[in-house]
Amino acid sequence: MKKDNNRNYNKSYNITTFGCQMNERDSETLAGMLEELGYVENANRKEADVAIINTCSVRENADKRFFGTLGQLKRAKEERPETVIAVCGCMMQQQHIIDTLKAKYPWVDLVFGTHNIHKFPELLTNILNERNKIIDIWDEGGDIIEGLPAKRMHPFKAYVNIMYGCNNFCTYCIVPYTRGRERSRHPEDIVREVKTLAESGVKEITLLGQNVNSYGNIREFPQDFTDLIYMLSDIDGIQRIRFMTSHPKDMSDKLIQAFKECDKLCNNIHLPVQSGSTRILARMNRKYTKEDYLLLIKKLRAAVPEIAITTDIITGFPGETEEDFNETMDLIEKVRFDSAFTFLYSIRKGTPAEKYTEQVPEEVKHERFNRLVNRLNDISQEINKSYEGRTVMVLVEGKSKTNPRMITGRTETGKLVNFKGPLEIAGQIVPVKITESKTFSLNGEIIDENYR
Ligand code: SAH
Ligand code: SF4
Ligand code: F3S
Repeated sequence: MKKDNNRNYNKSYNITTFGCQMNERDSETLAGMLEELGYVENANRKEADVAIINTCSVRENADKRFFGTLGQLKRAKEERPETVIAVCGCMMQQQHIIDTLKAKYPWVDLVFGTHNIHKFPELLTNILNERNKIIDIWDEGGDIIEGLPAKRMHPFKAYVNIMYGCNNFCTYCIVPYTRGRERSRHPEDIVREVKTLAESGVKEITLLGQNVNSYGNIREFPQDFTDLIYMLSDIDGIQRIRFMTSHPKDMSDKLIQAFKECDKLCNNIHLPVQSGSTRILARMNRKYTKEDYLLLIKKLRAAVPEIAITTDIITGFPGETEEDFNETMDLIEKVRFDSAFTFLYSIRKGTPAEKYTEQVPEEVKHERFNRLVNRLNDISQEINKSYEGRTVMVLVEGKSKTNPRMITGRTETGKLVNFKGPLEIAGQIVPVKITESKTFSLNGEIIDENYR
């Protein structure tokens, strides 16, 4: 191979990402920076010259998985001391984690947080030149940094950050402490990014934020979230717009109307409810009641009857009684979610709920969790069954992960569809007739004769 002047020629990197879409998007930025420095991706984290773990702290399990993964890198560091082990993300914004790293994980070279990702190339260069350790954590995010590189994970769909941080302080949640206060990107910066994505062949964008429908509330510009959606829907080439995550308390009639009027906005919303008990919702500081939530669902369905609704639910929040839990069971019957992410309440250090005395015993949490998941799955299956025989438009993403002889994509409502067809149609939106339904996916046949 020919040598060039790039001193990182042939050096490789690996990024392990835990957590939400925000973290996935941050990892795309880190990968983009590394590639600009001349690194190439290496699927094996133990063999990479730079191994990064981008962490999540939303539940205790996420913390545990991080320490497990980091433990695996000890050997790699012993065998090849020139390897750089870097850790970043939400866990690093907590002092007790930094203390643990210092005391028990001496093979870590670089620690940075959620607010200084843009400094990563500089920090890495320092490490490579000086060969010392660096811990650099910022308490708050400063101005939003635009124009960072990114290596996008998918060719046809892309995540687009529209805001950072969270001001809601739900009493169970660590995110406001790890991601800082709410800051919205300027609409013109977002439009510029989406235009570039469209030019590179992206068909579907997902607007990201912890609470996207409060976009622009702390503002220096007049547009709100719905205005932003309309601005983006004017961009040629973009065919589908989604967003993650919206908060029920900020769900405006204007946004509900946009589901009806804006063709590119997908008939699909993820609207975390957390609990069906108004009493528990108040203790969670969610700022809506069970009835408020049900009214929103009614309005959404009145605007777009076929809208697919998904949610997040926590079982075993401190003080949750059987009666409270039954309110959740009642809510899921009334809403009939297309699917739901369910979580066992997990105590997070530094959050208000950590101090709540009435923690629910583990076995009660689990028993409720199982009851909830069983019923949610039955409902998902029933809804998916109603797709059988229907023809739906699918944005083809590529080869199916579970069956290499099939290709896969999603409906506008977010359902995963597997079917036979040529890989060359990836990136196109094609009609598929659903032949079989499962709990978490659909099987189908492509309608267009040319593609069979
Ligand atoms: N900003 C988003 C979600 C952030 S975290 C929102 O507000 O909807 C994703 C989900 O993790 C939350 O919706 C919640 O259901 C769950 N979660 C957050 N903290 C948790 C905790 N301490 N224990 C269990 N689940 C939690
Ligand atoms: Fe956490 Fe609540 Fe903010 Fe979501 S809205 S990130 S659950 S504090
Ligand atoms: Fe986890 Fe941080 Fe996202 S705590 S869920 S990675 S914002």
